[in-house]
Amino acid sequence: TPNPDYDLSRPLNLDGSGLRQKLASYGDPHFSLFMRKLFIKALGYSEDALSRPIVGIVNTYSSFNPCHANIPQLMDAVKRGVQLSGGLAIDFPTISLHESFASPTSMYLRNLMSMDTEEMIQAQPVDSVVLIGGCDKTTPAQLMGAISANKPIIHLVTGPMMPGSFQGARIGACTDCRNNWAKFRAGTLDIEDISALNEELAPTGGTCGVMGTASTMSCILLALGLMPLSLPSATAPAVSSSRLRIAEATGTHAVALAISQLRPQALLTRESFLNAITVLQAIGGSTNAIVHLMAIVNRHPQLAGSIKLQTIDDIGLKTPLLVDLKPSGDNYMTDFHNAGGMLALLHELKPLLHLDAMTITGRTLGEELASIPFRPLPLDSPLTSIIHPFNKPLYPSSSLVILSNGNLASAGGAVIKASASKDRSLLSHTGPAVVFSGPQDLAERIDSPSLSVSPSSVLILQNIGPVGNPGMPEAGLIPIPRKLAAKGVSDMLRISDGRMSGTAGGTIILHVSPESADPESVLGIVQDGDVITFDAERRYLHVEIDEDGVRDRMAQRKKMMASEGSGSAWVARERERGYRGLYKREVNQAEQGADFGFLTAAGPS
Ligand code: FES
Ligand code: MG
Repeated sequence: TPNPDYDLSRPLNLDGSGLRQKLASYGDPHFSLFMRKLFIKALGYSEDALSRPIVGIVNTYSSFNPCHANIPQLMDAVKRGVQLSGGLAIDFPTISLHESFASPTSMYLRNLMSMDTEEMIQAQPVDSVVLIGGCDKTTPAQLMGAISANKPIIHLVTGPMMPGSFQGARIGACTDCRNNWAKFRAGTLDIEDISALNEELAPTGGTCGVMGTASTMSCILLALGLMPLSLPSATAPAVSSSRLRIAEATGTHAVALAISQLRPQALLTRESFLNAITVLQAIGGSTNAIVHLMAIVNRHPQLAGSIKLQTIDDIGLKTPLLVDLKPSGDNYMTDFHNAGGMLALLHELKPLLHLDAMTITGRTLGEELASIPFRPLPLDSPLTSIIHPFNKPLYPSSSLVILSNGNLASAGGAVIKASASKDRSLLSHTGPAVVFSGPQDLAERIDSPSLSVSPSSVLILQNIGPVGNPGMPEAGLIPIPRKLAAKGVSDMLRISDGRMSGTAGGTIILHVSPESADPESVLGIVQDGDVITFDAERRYLHVEIDEDGVRDRMAQRKKMMASEGSGSAWVARERERGYRGLYKREVNQAEQGADFGFLTAAGPS
């Protein structure tokens, strides 16, 4: 029988699935479909194959990305799942971001990756999409793009790496990278040891093996309902066969999604995000996840603006820290996995969860938890210390604290992971500021023997915000000045408008907004010797300058910026070329997600 697709007397239904979706226009729609088919047939696909639901697989493999090292095997397994379920799997690339191979910082490229993901999902005829990612910025970028594109999606994370071993102790990227580097700086580890550690800190492919940003985002994706709950989708190690079986099952789910057409804007509700934030607090997750969550929710036309920093604090107040992983605790992702992972945690958190939130299976979170077989660990298992019972938490509440009072926090807020503070007395502290005007100034002076600093000083790093230092680098973990570190000082109060790695710890206030490059920023006018007061309990961060003083210093600063003209990053961005110029002109502040305004659901302002 002649192919009806080329019967010019019949209209073509272009809202259809598969190759009929959104044709590239060659004028005549029958001709456009004819062109599309002849080109895809060049890849060897038959009419039969092309008549199946098409599942796109986003391939973020790169030889520069060890966190994504297992993607070729995962893609094979996803394809098997798709094809066993009667679909056709077609993979396509987007850019790949690894934390260490994305200068100046991977965050600078997150929005670019989200644009790439959104536009490629839009452009190609896919009925559903499997988003394979893992390293910190990749899963948020993918979800941001996918919500905007709004085709059915399912996430598949690459999974955490295994821990390594050094002189009898387990180690893993990257809390132990930082702890050991600090010891090396303090002179308690020698150069042979630090070199030997370098060999073992990342002993397999996969994402960082602690509760860093990658693991945090994996747990959040599961809590949002975007990965199957019936499998250990968030925690199975990258190198495990379980990870491959999850991939196969993800392919099966993707075919079901291609048919159900459950799209992220319909699946995700306010309750989904409240659940995600509850999980974030209970795992002592990465501060970066706060920025990502804001960017993600602000892509959603119905939910944009409905989740604020305050929401995260409100949920924190009633959510205990239950998961004992570095950097808030002592263990590794493999321990969390072996202790029952997210399924066990969600059972523990049930009283706080919105059980009617939807998941990719089309069943609610509550229905999933009720139907998936789950057996708690025996009470004498050594692993019971990994996921604490709800009534015996590791930290009573608010592992992530949002500061909103005091002149340094009342405008756009600030964030601290209180549960990762090493010296908890610093959670309420007053001390004189030692101010660094940027990363270069910090590098030049932090270890200088003549730096005037004491353990009660408050270290301040300016100009590492979204515009001031594009991408808002993870430089918020200001090192302890060497002369103090050598005396055994291991924590100080530190403040910046930047981020820090989710794997880092210390008493570190981040994401101060508006950022110091902004002429209206109070952080931007803090000077050496100004008295800083921080009180986590009262959500308070203040510099003792009265209102007149603030006004005078700001006026002076604006005059200076105007005279510097193009010397000021704030002014010069208007004429900067390329993606860098676009980034600096369009990026919004941390509390909005550091997304480009024009990509948000609200559109350009
Ligand atoms: Fe990729 Fe840590 S560097 S997850
Ligand atoms: Mg990281």
